[in-house]
Amino acid sequence: MAQEVIKIRGGKTLKGEVNISGAKNSAVAIIPATLLAQGHVNLDGLPQISDVETLVSLLEDLNIKTKLDGTKLDVDTTQIENAPLPNNKVESLRASYYMMGAMLGRFKKCVIGLPGGCPLGPRPIDQHIKGFKALGAEIDESSDTSMKIEAKQLKGANIFLDMVSVGATINIMLAAVHAEGQTVIENAAKEPEVVDVANFLISMGAQIKGAGTTTIKITGVDTLHGTEYQVIPDRIEAGSYMCMAAAAGEEVVINNIVPRHVEALTAKLKELGVDIELSDEKAIIRKSEPYHSIDIKTLVYPGFATDLQQPITPLLFMANGPSFVTDTIYPERFKHVEELQQMGANINKDNGTATIKPSTLNGAEVYASDLRAGACLIVAGLIAEGVTTIYNVKHIYRGYTQIVEHLKALGAEIWTETV
Ligand code: EPU
Repeated sequence: MAQEVIKIRGGKTLKGEVNISGAKNSAVAIIPATLLAQGHVNLDGLPQISDVETLVSLLEDLNIKTKLDGTKLDVDTTQIENAPLPNNKVESLRASYYMMGAMLGRFKKCVIGLPGGCPLGPRPIDQHIKGFKALGAEIDESSDTSMKIEAKQLKGANIFLDMVSVGATINIMLAAVHAEGQTVIENAAKEPEVVDVANFLISMGAQIKGAGTTTIKITGVDTLHGTEYQVIPDRIEAGSYMCMAAAAGEEVVINNIVPRHVEALTAKLKELGVDIELSDEKAIIRKSEPYHSIDIKTLVYPGFATDLQQPITPLLFMANGPSFVTDTIYPERFKHVEELQQMGANINKDNGTATIKPSTLNGAEVYASDLRAGACLIVAGLIAEGVTTIYNVKHIYRGYTQIVEHLKALGAEIWTETV
């Protein structure tokens, strides 16, 4: 079957400005959360990515009226109906699991397919389920393809997460906004996207305290009203462009960035030797070799994001010695390693750690196994000699708004072809 590929001829210098979109990982939770509103919701600042389109289409399956126009989405829930969602749309992205929490909150019942998403190794949802059960839900997991979640009544509860999980924290918040009494989530995720979703729910009348800390308290309310809301900038998209600029930028200005959200990456890039200027809402980055070898360990926020360990990896080939990257969140998130080896890179992985040695990269045919592996291959393609062809680019389009156009505007020799 014909498919689109991205091609890059490496060695061009990047210069100019790029505007960062709204955060994918906020948007993919906030869109399902709109179904909790009685009335109209107007969102702005959405990224223009396929995950957004898929979630909007899931809202429509519940007879919600939607109008998606660029970065804006209008949602009207006045005709909402509960309907089963056991279809292939649900499987196409991981974040469809937020439909569970939102539908449980709104209807006390949902039937939904099992979530898919990037293959990063095991990605269980046991903590989400534990939270729903604590709130009073019963779960029928007898089907291989879908799950039925139902509560006679949702009651606030104290929930201690076994591990820090962005998805479980948000999903429990979504269900708990209508639970009777108080829900306390302990060992909650502190990621900016958790705070953004909480702020969105608060703007609809939810009572939530402590988002951004390890203890979140939610007091249930009977109804939530419509609202207008602007999604925060995408720190992972910003970080990915910071890596591209460090790889090949004469001077790249990255606009719509929250410096606080990219602190761990900024610190590592500075350690590497990258020239970075950060002000309130922008970063100016210049490639400034020679780079020094560094070690990276991914951690929950505010530590170094797992989503950025793949995009930063090609920079480490430009360093003066061996570097080590350890992913403690997803120890199997190293599918990019084999692809980089195809490009001539001296990189190996063992037990959740990649060892990266100085290398010269050559263009090759490579495969984007997941979204951030795709971003990694783009960074690698920018510095490689010759043409890199990236297959399976649907993953890249799930998370990066108009990435080919943005890079072209910065001066990269990048184009798409159907093969
Ligand atoms: N985990 C469990 N059980 C659960 C939930 C999580 O064992 O019930 C484990 C996971 O397997 C993982 C760790 O806990 O080892 C953290 O997972 P988390 O739940 O925080 O991840 P997620 O919510 O599924 C989100 C982002 C990911 C990002 C991670 C970590 C969304 C839609 N996805 O996933 O983003 O890597 O948090 O920060 O928000 C991406 O954007 O490329 C991406 C994969």
